[in-house]
Amino acid sequence: MTAPCHHKITIYQIYPRSFYDSNNDGIGDLKGILQKLDYLHELGFETLWISPFFSSPQADFGYDISNYTDIAPEYGKMEDALQLIEEIHKRGMKIVFDMVMNHTSDQHAWFKESRSSRDNPKADWYLWRDPLPSLLRRGAGGEVPNNWKSMTGGSGWHYAEERDQYYWSSFLPMKPDLNYRNPEVKKAMLNIVRFWLGKGVDGFRLDIFNVIYKDAEFRDNPFAFQLAPTETNPSGFFQEAKYTLNQSESFTFAKELRAVCDEFGEKMLLGEISGDRETTRKFLGEETNDGLTHAFDFDMLTFKFTAEYFGDLIKKIEANYPDPFMPIYVFGNHDRRRSINRIGEDQQKAKLIHTLQMTVRGVPCIYYGEEIGMTNLKQSFAAALDPIPHKFKFIPPIFFDMIGLTINRDEVRTPMQWDGTRNAGFSFAEKTWLPVHENYREINVAAESEDENSLLNTICALAKIRQTEKSLQEGTLEILEGLPSGVLGYARKLGNEKIVILLNFEEKEKQFEFENAECILKLSPKDQTKNKAIYLGGFGGMILK
Ligand code: GLC
Repeated sequence: MTAPCHHKITIYQIYPRSFYDSNNDGIGDLKGILQKLDYLHELGFETLWISPFFSSPQADFGYDISNYTDIAPEYGKMEDALQLIEEIHKRGMKIVFDMVMNHTSDQHAWFKESRSSRDNPKADWYLWRDPLPSLLRRGAGGEVPNNWKSMTGGSGWHYAEERDQYYWSSFLPMKPDLNYRNPEVKKAMLNIVRFWLGKGVDGFRLDIFNVIYKDAEFRDNPFAFQLAPTETNPSGFFQEAKYTLNQSESFTFAKELRAVCDEFGEKMLLGEISGDRETTRKFLGEETNDGLTHAFDFDMLTFKFTAEYFGDLIKKIEANYPDPFMPIYVFGNHDRRRSINRIGEDQQKAKLIHTLQMTVRGVPCIYYGEEIGMTNLKQSFAAALDPIPHKFKFIPPIFFDMIGLTINRDEVRTPMQWDGTRNAGFSFAEKTWLPVHENYREINVAAESEDENSLLNTICALAKIRQTEKSLQEGTLEILEGLPSGVLGYARKLGNEKIVILLNFEEKEKQFEFENAECILKLSPKDQTKNKAIYLGGFGGMILK
């Protein structure tokens, strides 16, 4: 059986605000993406996931939508979105929109109406509850309805005087959660999905998809001895998210959503799901892949740079996502620290993790700028545009560094570094919406294109190999045993085709005997094959055919 097309994809995430500014207002836009399509096409990633650019007060930079079928003016117009779909398709590429279904902006007409009274037609479109008559849990308008904590800490209940009631918000107060137990809400949201599929969109990345349903009875969450959420355990703030996450109805909804997409052909549904691997997998289906098509595996974002770590990771992922399931390998996004900072901003080491990402059995997803090794830019909590740090500005940032939490997401959202000119070639504006990283003179697309051994050219070469080698797209994966310590090796096989990947995670050079094969990519100039001997430079690696 051949793998479905959507399992063979490579994904590039664009954060539109920071990608390319075509009208010099300091903010990236859709026309900017259009102007850079040839760059992306040449880079060799064919599926573009674009973070939200719909109408929004931008209180959470587009993840707070006030109209799902209109475009925010700073990003362009509907005709630009349609042109983008068309131009991407013309190049044989695919486009994935970001669908924020769990909540709207508090400025959405639905919420404004819902909030206005207890008996308007949309009164039950969000999660409204009466204040409690107890003396505990005091909130702004009396007692909050239960003990639930939001994903960003503190009670997620917010008081609205108009109704003398609280509304629930999983994330931030200006993003009220919709009530999916109301069939009208579900219908309205699925119609939005159909609207964009009808315009030719190839699928959606689904924002915090596993919080979509909450307990129907609003039962209190139990105590848990856990301060902060981690990649594998989304509970936190001393509470187990038992009634606020992963409710059985959310798994069923994944299948309903898939069925709607199937009406339009083979579409992608990429789930942002927090939690352990088993739960994440359940959103894709039990026996067959009839739920979401994919889910991101975020556990790997906290990797250790060793052959053992990655060997174990691959084994665990393989066990959890057997055929017909396919994982997504991801090392960065607009919410998490860029991974290159975990490896001392070392581009040679970055070549290794991206070679792994592009050659294992899985869909690779890279975040804009990762291909050139863009780094995080430390910025103060007080000056942050991101709303989250303002919740935590009284806690010294070093505390979050120690527990590995990204609080100020501005740090990972700085403008794309295109060249060594002003504003890194991102914009001619006086001031860009976030500052450009000062390392842009060295780390930029133009400079790295010139350098044969750059991270950019390596990633581009990897993408080309992946496009031509079927075994990398749909072959099996077998970890190779008996290699020198510090070296990770695996084979990808499809019929008679075989590709071998060898990666040296240590600074020490390695030499060993190996079967005769042609080397089709080297990561370090010191890597060599001679007869049956393999030489790998420090942090070197090769792909053999
Ligand atoms: C997701 C998005 C993030 C957003 C949050 C709430 O985690 O990636 O940027 O703030 O959901 O919508």
